[in-house]
Amino acid sequence: SRFWLVVPAAGIGQRMRSECPKQYLKLHQRFILDVTLSRLLDSGLFDGCMVALNPRDRWWPDSVAAGDERVQTCTGGAERADSVLAALQALAGQAADEDWVLVHDAARPCLHPHDLSNLVDSLVEHPVGGLLAAPVADTLKQTGGGQPPEVDSTVDRSRLWRAFTPQMFRLGALRCALASCLERGLPVTDESSAMEFSGYTPVLVEGRSDNIKITVPADLALAEFLLAQQDG
Ligand code: CTP
Ligand code: MG
Repeated sequence: SRFWLVVPAAGIGQRMRSECPKQYLKLHQRFILDVTLSRLLDSGLFDGCMVALNPRDRWWPDSVAAGDERVQTCTGGAERADSVLAALQALAGQAADEDWVLVHDAARPCLHPHDLSNLVDSLVEHPVGGLLAAPVADTLKQTGGGQPPEVDSTVDRSRLWRAFTPQMFRLGALRCALASCLERGLPVTDESSAMEFSGYTPVLVEGRSDNIKITVPADLALAEFLLAQQDG
């Protein structure tokens, strides 16, 4: 079957507090978005790639990816799920419902090639698909909700995992799941949650914990360090 790549890159990076959206900040002189896209496209796995951009985006033309014939763009939406759905709809003319789609955050440039191939190899025979994830390492506290926060209890973390991207599902099933969740106003923070709401059971594939999502300013230096380590 064929593989498509969807990269939501339409966010404004509020928590980064930078002049431009965080996907256009630089890691070792390259846009974060270019680092992310080249790591995925270098795998040679994908038949095509759709990047969802913000309607106010002024930076995309300066990216290396803008000159890459494998890369197409569409306009994203208000929330991440809207951007992913817009990209899936933009692919509908070229892709079949049975094709696989991998959705990967523009803001996760440290995805290791081994994790990508392990995800695909683990799920390619699976009927539903799944995502990269890692067991929670910290002890987790539940609060009562008041101020100052007081501990209500310690949560059993033995069955809790952190959800990463890429998330890999059948294109048609994911498009229907996202559309139906958005219509019903359900809280979809990733593709898996949309699939779960629609009754599917995604599989977790354990990934490296250095697959961080660049979110706050300190993550920039961390990502440069992690990338240099992976290369070395
Ligand atoms: N994203 C998107 N469309 C949106 C919101 C987010 O395509 N409406 C993308 C971001 O560009 C990012 C990924 O989804 O690559 C993960 O989202 P997040 O890390 O939350 O990025 P932002 O929403 O840009 O950051 P913030 O939440 O701090 O504003
Ligand atoms: Mg966000």
